[in-house]
Amino acid sequence: MAEVVIVKNTAAAGALVADEILELLDAKPDAVLGVATGSTPLPVYQALAGRLRDRDVSQVQAFALDEYVGLDPAHPESYRSVITREVVEPLGLDPARVHVPDGSAADAQFAGERYEEAIRAAGGVDLQLLGIGTDGHIGFNEPGSSFASRTRVKTLTEQTREDNARFFDSIDDVPRHCITQGLGTILEARHLVLLAFGESKAEAVAGAVEGPLSAILPGSAIQLHPHATVVVDEAAASKL
Ligand code: GLP
Repeated sequence: MAEVVIVKNTAAAGALVADEILELLDAKPDAVLGVATGSTPLPVYQALAGRLRDRDVSQVQAFALDEYVGLDPAHPESYRSVITREVVEPLGLDPARVHVPDGSAADAQFAGERYEEAIRAAGGVDLQLLGIGTDGHIGFNEPGSSFASRTRVKTLTEQTREDNARFFDSIDDVPRHCITQGLGTILEARHLVLLAFGESKAEAVAGAVEGPLSAILPGSAIQLHPHATVVVDEAAASKL
């Protein structure tokens, strides 16, 4: 069962998880971080940016969970752009050591295999940050995703497209496909840290932490992991 930590607010969550990452970097300066997009992990990146100011992070590697398919990598909402803006620049990471799945590859299957290979070559992910979608997705593993899945192309649900429409001019501009680490890929990270804030995530959090193991709620896969931490505010914890 995942360890659940209920925090007062998002800033407290950010500070807590940033400290955990600092501890990891103290022990392993070339740690491999699994980074997530969405609004949820932003307080972690903000807290980390302050704490990393005087540190040498030149050896740190990072792997993003997912990317839209069919969006120019230079588009401000491509996850490549988002990770550059919200993670690489504020944390001062070496951009050459930060990886995002290739959503514009002609051969998506090959792009998935290459990404898996890069994670393996880095020695695997030490700490994987995760948000959770209102439909229970982690990464972009939408309901129905196999627990054994690897990095591959998926179709986004209407729910996810609606949730993410706020980042685009209109819902028509939200891509319909993505390339995402699979649940099997994510479960190989050595420590999972799932964050969720607000009432809209309460149902997904309850399903992930306490619900039956089910592909209908991909987040429930964290129950299979020996070291998973769930950091939530009271609203997101309200259905536990
Ligand atoms: C996005 C991302 C996920 C993220 C989730 C929640 O679509 N692909 O990695 O965890 O949806 O987003 P937010 O944190 O903005 O609620």
